Amino acid sequence: MARSAVLCGLGAWVPPHVVTNDDLAALLDTSDEWIRTRTGIRQRHVIGDGLSTVDLAVEAGARALKSAGLSEADYLVLATTTPDRLCPPTGPEVATRLGMTGVPAFDVAAGCSGFLYGLQTGRALIAGEIADTVLVIGAESLTTLVDPDDRGTRPLFGDGAGAVVLRMGADDELGAVLGVNLHSDGSLSELITVAGGGARARAAGDTAPAHITMHGRATFAHAVKHMEEVTRQTLAQVGWDITEVDHVVGHQANARILHALAKRLGLAEEQAVVHIEEVGNTASASIPLALHHGVVTGRIKPGDRLVMPAFGAGATWGAAAMTWPQLEI
Ligand code: ACO
Repeated sequence: MARSAVLCGLGAWVPPHVVTNDDLAALLDTSDEWIRTRTGIRQRHVIGDGLSTVDLAVEAGARALKSAGLSEADYLVLATTTPDRLCPPTGPEVATRLGMTGVPAFDVAAGCSGFLYGLQTGRALIAGEIADTVLVIGAESLTTLVDPDDRGTRPLFGDGAGAVVLRMGADDELGAVLGVNLHSDGSLSELITVAGGGARARAAGDTAPAHITMHGRATFAHAVKHMEEVTRQTLAQVGWDITEVDHVVGHQANARILHALAKRLGLAEEQAVVHIEEVGNTASASIPLALHHGVVTGRIKPGDRLVMPAFGAGATWGAAAMTWPQLEI
């Protein structure tokens, strides 16, 4: 019988410092009203006090391991677009801080689809009999990449981390990750970029700071289209009709994207789990943070059927379908 990956642990952590829309409106030509109505965001958590992506990842990872009742996993996959340094990779330091020195640990960079790329990697390690347990963490410090003077990007992003533990199991168990589909299109690479600090900029002698630029409207349109397509593809793969889905736990880039997606899929708006108002866009951390929010607020219950689509820089996109397990969190 094929070995399936079953989600058996969940953890989340956001840094304590909160920046509200009103805080930003005091610094930029923007308003709480604009940010809330255009994006759904009310506040975001921001690192400071010496914290970095490693710290976020360790906090979420430790909580996920505890939730799974494990002290370590066979592999650690860290999804991030904001590693602490270009070199070394961030995963090994996270593993050591979690007491997992010696365990294979590596980074996966896939923009806002990073968690799904990490999930598929963990799933493949289990299916391929390479690992029995995998810790998949999404951790981001995106507020370190925004131009503080850019009202177009600074309000959108927040910092945080979410993590899951996958274990070997069977498809008929609650928590089984039944299907994942991933895609990319490099011809859309200019949609969302951080050019500064990269090899291309260094080779050209360009010393501009590392700041996110985004073509918002075009990204919005691609996100809705591709997330709908890949959700339908994933539902067909696992043999679910859309009417059998309880929740869409999508990447939290904009509440309007999540509501438009639910509508295009023929679902009620309330079936989209929306957590962006509290945390902003946390890229690779966003789906596990939204899962955690859905569980602690009592919306996501054992046995529920979930589909989790994402779209982000690359461009990359994908979706996963799973049943929700009974968890201690
Ligand atoms: N406050 C006030 N006005 C603003 C602000 C702000 N914070 N930001 C932009 N504006 C202005 C613009 O200057 C523009 O003014 P103009 O009409 O005078 O030129 C106007 O508001 C409209 O700007 P748009 O960019 O067209 O606004 P839009 O409604 O598209 O919202 C947003 C922008 C929120 C970025 C939206 O396009 C979006 O969510 N896009 C998708 C984001 C996404 O999916 N990202 C995915 C992944 S990110 C990653 O991978 C790291």
